Amino acid sequence: MRQMKHKFVFTSFAITAVLIAGCSNKIIKSSISYSKVNVLETKVDSVLKLMTLEEKVGQLNQYNGFWEITGPTPKEGQAAKKYEDLKKGLVGSMLNVKGVKDVTALQKIAVEQTRLGIPLIFGFDVIHGYKTISPIPLAEAASWDLEAIKKSAAIAAEEASSVGLNWTFAPMVDISRDARWGRVMEGAGEDTYLGSKIAVARVQGFQGDLSSNKNILACAKHFAGYAFAESGRDYNTVDVSETTLQNIIFPPFKATVDAGVRTFMNSFNELNGIPATGNSYLQREVLKGDWKFDGFVVSDWGSINEMISHGYAKDSKHAAEIALNAGSDMDMESSAYVEHLVALVNEGKVKESLIDDAARRILKVKFELGLFDNPYKYCDENREKETVGSPAIQEGVLDMAKKSIVLLKNQNDLLPLKKSGQKIAVIGALANDKTSPLGSWRIAADDNTAVSVLEGLENYKGNQLNYAKGADVSVGRTQFIWETKINTTDKSGFEEAIAIAKQADIVVMVLGEHGLQSGEGRSRSDIGLPGVQQELLEAIFKVNPNVVLVLNNGRPLAIPWADEHIPAIVEAWQLGTQSGNAIAQVLYGDYNPSGKLPMTFPRNVGQVPIYYNYKNTGRPVMNEPDSVFWSHYIDEKNTPLYPFGYGLSYSKFEYSDMQLTSNSFAKNGKIEVSVNIKNTGKVTGKEVVQMYIRDLIGSTTRPVKELKGFEMIELNPNETKKVVFLIDEKTIQYFTANAKWESEPGDFKVFIGGSSAKTLERDFQYFN
Ligand code: NOJ
Repeated sequence: MRQMKHKFVFTSFAITAVLIAGCSNKIIKSSISYSKVNVLETKVDSVLKLMTLEEKVGQLNQYNGFWEITGPTPKEGQAAKKYEDLKKGLVGSMLNVKGVKDVTALQKIAVEQTRLGIPLIFGFDVIHGYKTISPIPLAEAASWDLEAIKKSAAIAAEEASSVGLNWTFAPMVDISRDARWGRVMEGAGEDTYLGSKIAVARVQGFQGDLSSNKNILACAKHFAGYAFAESGRDYNTVDVSETTLQNIIFPPFKATVDAGVRTFMNSFNELNGIPATGNSYLQREVLKGDWKFDGFVVSDWGSINEMISHGYAKDSKHAAEIALNAGSDMDMESSAYVEHLVALVNEGKVKESLIDDAARRILKVKFELGLFDNPYKYCDENREKETVGSPAIQEGVLDMAKKSIVLLKNQNDLLPLKKSGQKIAVIGALANDKTSPLGSWRIAADDNTAVSVLEGLENYKGNQLNYAKGADVSVGRTQFIWETKINTTDKSGFEEAIAIAKQADIVVMVLGEHGLQSGEGRSRSDIGLPGVQQELLEAIFKVNPNVVLVLNNGRPLAIPWADEHIPAIVEAWQLGTQSGNAIAQVLYGDYNPSGKLPMTFPRNVGQVPIYYNYKNTGRPVMNEPDSVFWSHYIDEKNTPLYPFGYGLSYSKFEYSDMQLTSNSFAKNGKIEVSVNIKNTGKVTGKEVVQMYIRDLIGSTTRPVKELKGFEMIELNPNETKKVVFLIDEKTIQYFTANAKWESEPGDFKVFIGGSSAKTLERDFQYFN
């Protein structure tokens, strides 16, 4: 063994080099540039040939961090078993091991103590930043700024890679229509077109050039249907039609494959009766077959064994058999593969060729990362020190935070705030919270590291600030995030808050959800302001109606009372480390808000799922006065509180002169549709101009509107710009009743405007 170790210690790249043509490392390296793919495949194959079945299965095994580097080697229990597996070469990847010191220590075991010295990949949930936190992904989506989103992912990759990581479990590209589901915060919202563009931007930002040590592998998740959990309850059953699957859910995933994403994660849910983890239609037929995805699929955490609870596998061995045969390549934390796959191959239940395929995919990605050349590529303690929390990274997350804010209401131009001579009362527990803005996926960030709203406002010295909490959002939080409790009764702080509100010219109230009230496992059945915050808002409004409501939340909220009464409302989500600075700059007008909602805000939780691209139904309108026999509620409007694509600015934009170059086109033809937008306000501002189309008659029924293009423009006061969109055959394609993506001739409408609700419209026709 010792002898062998020496033979292979120069990493298995050396082995490969020798095997390929008896040539030196140098020759192999230089040949990569002119026939990269073939050389890569040959290298992977030559490593694979050296491996025993056990070692190949080992590559398919991913363990959660188990070893305190500074502590003793684990001697008993699960940790000890995992540690032994690592030394035997039975681990292909680790998750949740971070920091150059820890990563190096584990990599060293893999490279120096295992028979073949194959390096590990280190994965982590870098969802919106690593330690310096950017806005939650839903907030970033509200920027509609693809370059900014790409840059935000690149910044996260830079910080994460400097601590030894080389793989993030992001982006989550699940299209989500149900605000009760806690994970809507992790995606790009409800729209497939916008979601696909953002998915690509994020993949490009994370992965960039994988040969650089500043980029990391991205992972498109959760394949598929996870966000369509019944009742918005996390992990719940998913049953959707093929029309929805193909037209709504799949496209962002397909877009990431086309953009070169290297990994996919499957999902916890069952999809139409088959758990996604054991679903060969999803993983083998669609993903690896139709879409030709050549990276690898990792299971979600323990999702292989969860097929037992689903009632789909009788035990862990059966689950391993189903998952591998269905195309799940890597097992995250179920231990089902490492425990059972060898036996399953020997019993003829799993073909060794399928194990080879999975191992080959994983090894290939390791080669692509350059780990065989340098397993410690991401392990540089000096770089780690210089990079984490650097001024450039702070600047980057601040920029993204400002771009993510959406102005929902601004009656009588209450905003921006005057910079001097004002008494401002700041109210709400969230105004003084330095942890909540970090959101729920910030597992490497320390508590109390965000800039609070109060701190952000304190940077502006011209006004007098008074703060009162009013009421808690969360109390009794202990070490475990799941122990966050919601204050539903304590109003003892109201009096002080009312007193300072009475004295103030303006009241800034920061209300909403704590950062830990959305995210995985945090579904809500009531999506109003939690606790006694609604009562606090009403009590303050009674004594001083000049209220600016700043919302912090990880999902659309139902706030009809606030919309009716409060003059100014700012949607500020959870904006990360620089949250308070971004909010203050927007409130004071040093940044003119330009965000647009990526998800519909309902009036009432009972409307959920509510989304702009709904189907018309057979009874869309009331035909006779007082008839109840149409698709509606008897106690609520059908319309949303704030529609998809909506957001105001301190500028005012007027849309006019919508024109089409022609009112019909044929295959290979096109129409250009243009509109003029004028800034009639007093300040320079940015506007996201949106184009939607409606296909009036289809072989399957079509949505009332679908986003098909958008462009962000900046306009000075009185300036007018013309924006032109292109419509061609691709624009109108969808997954038809023929079960393929194609266009159908017929009548269409095109809409252009600053939201999905407020648009100019024209008609056109398409001929085949
Ligand atoms: C479970 C989540 O569903 C998934 O998104 C995440 O990446 C893994 N846990 C790993 O933490």
